Amino acid sequence: MPGNVDVINRTYDSVDVNGGLFMLEVKEIKLVREERKILNSLTASFEKGRVYAILGNNGVGKSTLSYVLMGLESHKDYEGNVYLDGEEIDLLSVPERAKKGISLGWQEPVRFEGLTVREYLTLGGKLKLSVEELDETLSTVGLNRDYLDRLVDESLSGGERKRVELASIILVNPRVTILDEPDSGIDIMSMEMIEHVLERLRDKGSIVIIITHREEIARMADEAYLLCGGRILASGEPEEIVSFYRKLCDSCQHINEPVKEGGLAND
Ligand SMILES: Nc1ncnc2c1ncn2[C@@H]1O[C@H](COP(=O)(O)OP(=O)(O)O)[C@@H](O)[C@H]1O
Ligand SMILES: [Mg+2]
Repeated sequence: MPGNVDVINRTYDSVDVNGGLFMLEVKEIKLVREERKILNSLTASFEKGRVYAILGNNGVGKSTLSYVLMGLESHKDYEGNVYLDGEEIDLLSVPERAKKGISLGWQEPVRFEGLTVREYLTLGGKLKLSVEELDETLSTVGLNRDYLDRLVDESLSGGERKRVELASIILVNPRVTILDEPDSGIDIMSMEMIEHVLERLRDKGSIVIIITHREEIARMADEAYLLCGGRILASGEPEEIVSFYRKLCDSCQHINEPVKEGGLAND
């Protein structure tokens, strides 16, 4: 039986499966759209306190995988299973998965009309945070306390909203953090800042999955998966996977061709 989970107080009890090691596992995930396998027998596993890069070119299925892990209604029609701490969570909704401790940083910068940064970071006051905790977290993402009264809308740049979202994720203290291209849509995003965010999450014992097409970001991980055509082509040391990516993916002629349902190629 899974223990109690309280997302507001940010405490989660863990059950003793996998020898006490908290894990997220995906097994044989398949998702079809317009007769194409966007995810194709994707199997991977992720351990507590480690950072994993999912590296792949545009269109290989990275964001789709993040939606499947988060349990978006639009992506619930996948085959295969997602296990959290040994428990099958396929039937759980987004809020239910969030309560289990899964957080997603979206590829697009967040926007909430009428909500201040303070309200957003404290979940509308539900999260009791000290001024020091807020300050420290804002400083980790390269912002200061002057931002607390700003609105999380178009008056902040995309980069600033990305930073605010990363701060929010740190403060929620997720057990599983999925970051979909945290540097996307932004001119210059401090790589060092992203590295600090990953350190914070890793230190807090989160499973961190960072989705990216950038080698510099993949190198920050402890382990990397190379994604192509909706399946894992290789996994291992980030440096190894990055050089594999360079050799294979830069010159690949069948880039991002999701496999046709019933087709032979790559099947
Ligand atoms: N609803 C959909 N209908 C048809 N094709 C889709 C749909 N959603 C995504 N795709 C296709 O699935 C592939 C993977 O998309 P995505 O996961 O967004 O890729 P990535 O994040 O790696 O760039 C792309 O070829 C995309 O066009
Ligand atoms: Mg994407």
